[in-house]
This record gives sequence, C-alpha cells and structure tokens, in this order.
Amino acid sequence: MTAVSDVLPFLAKRYEADLIIANGENASQGFGLTHRDCLALKDMGVDVITLGNHWRTRKSIDDDLEAIDTLVRPHNVRDYDLGQGYVSLDVNGVPVTVSNLLGTAFMKEEVNSPSASMHEILDEAPEGVHIVDYHAESTSEKSLFAHYFDGMVSAVLGTHTHVQTADARILPQGTGFISDVGMCGAYESVIGFEPQSVIDRIYFNGPNPMRVDDEAEAMVNAVLLDIDEQTYLCKAITPLVYVNGKERIHG
Ligand SMILES: [Fe+2]
Repeated sequence: MTAVSDVLPFLAKRYEADLIIANGENASQGFGLTHRDCLALKDMGVDVITLGNHWRTRKSIDDDLEAIDTLVRPHNVRDYDLGQGYVSLDVNGVPVTVSNLLGTAFMKEEVNSPSASMHEILDEAPEGVHIVDYHAESTSEKSLFAHYFDGMVSAVLGTHTHVQTADARILPQGTGFISDVGMCGAYESVIGFEPQSVIDRIYFNGPNPMRVDDEAEAMVNAVLLDIDEQTYLCKAITPLVYVNGKERIHG
C-alpha cells in the first residue's frame, strides 16, 4: 500500500492516465484485501480493483464485492456468486470493460474454463476497450490465452507471479500483452515478503508467518497502455518500474 501511495499520484499525472487499474488481491500484508485497504486504494485514485486466487482470503470482501461494482473478482471461480467478474465503465465517452480471470496451471482453485468464461464476458459486455487481468502462474498459459483472444480484446495483462516479465508487446492482431505486470511491494523481498521470514518458514518450518517489511525500499511495477479509441486495439504497452519513487532500469 505504501509503495502505491508514494508514487501513484505522480504517475497518474505524468502519464495523464484516463483509467487506473490495480490488482489488489495481496494488498493487505501480502494476503487478500481488507475493507480498509480497498477503500484506501480507491482514495489513492485507483478506478478498478481486480483480484485473484486470494480474492476471498479475507471474508469482508463478500460485502465489498456486493457494494463496489468497480471491485472485480475472477469471473470463472466456481460456487461463488457475489460481486462481478467484470465491470463496464464510461471513460471520457469511451466504453471500457475490465475483466478478471483465474488460470488453471499450478493453481489450486476450482475454476471454469478461462477461455469459455472469456467468451461469456465478450458476449455480455458492450463493445469497446477491453482490458483483461489474467491471473495465473504459468507464462505459457498466459501467452496461449492472449494469442487466442488477440484482436478480440485491447490487452491481456498477466498477474500473480509478482515478477515483471520482459515480454511486453503488441500481438499481431493488436492486443497488448505482458505475461506478468509484476508487483507493488518491497523491492528486496521474496515476492513481497521479507526474505529471512520466508527462509525461516519454508526451509526450517519455522512457527512464524512470512511477513511484509513496511520499511523496505518500495517498488512499483506497472504497465502503461495506449489504446486507440476508434479500433479499441493497443497502440503501445510500456512496462514501468519505480523504486522509492524513482524510475529504474533493471540491472
Ligand atoms: Fe495470486
């Protein structure tokens, strides 16, 4: 949360963002999204919050999903009917849909077919810009999905691995794609958690939970999308990395 609040106003202004989307499924100390943090993200200027496999780690999300239509959980989760798997908005006169899906490879959740669920959303949602948060572990699964829906949606943005991938590009039919947008959280960490706490927990079966170090250097990973308002296809996708508020090139 600190990483985002430190730079989001600056980024929104610098890039003149029309719409800000954040995956919030791990925003609350690494697991789930509390009611307070959900409201805090909205107050920071996040327009749409997507979720993922931790969508219901904190049960308060049930009420939030019912109350906040710009909070979106994976459309293809089974046996869960609260809230919505996509939201359609009017952004400066342009119809925009943001949808959220869970992948299947190396994931524990019981889900309906991501591709069938995506077709379902496409049948229901208004024609316009369509940005998909495809929350999945496997890069190949995310690439497969993006190529299948190339030209049918504006962008397929992978999330879940917390590590930004170096494959951002426009696919042949005009869909912007990246296997994983990355993470907002501690830069020197194991996917957001303080390293020693992960070593103790995983290698030595320690009793303490993995913890988030709020004092660590804060990193923000994001992508900037430039989308054609006539064709709804992607003109540019630019990965962003900021550490302690400064733009950084990896290395
Ligand atoms: Fe996840």
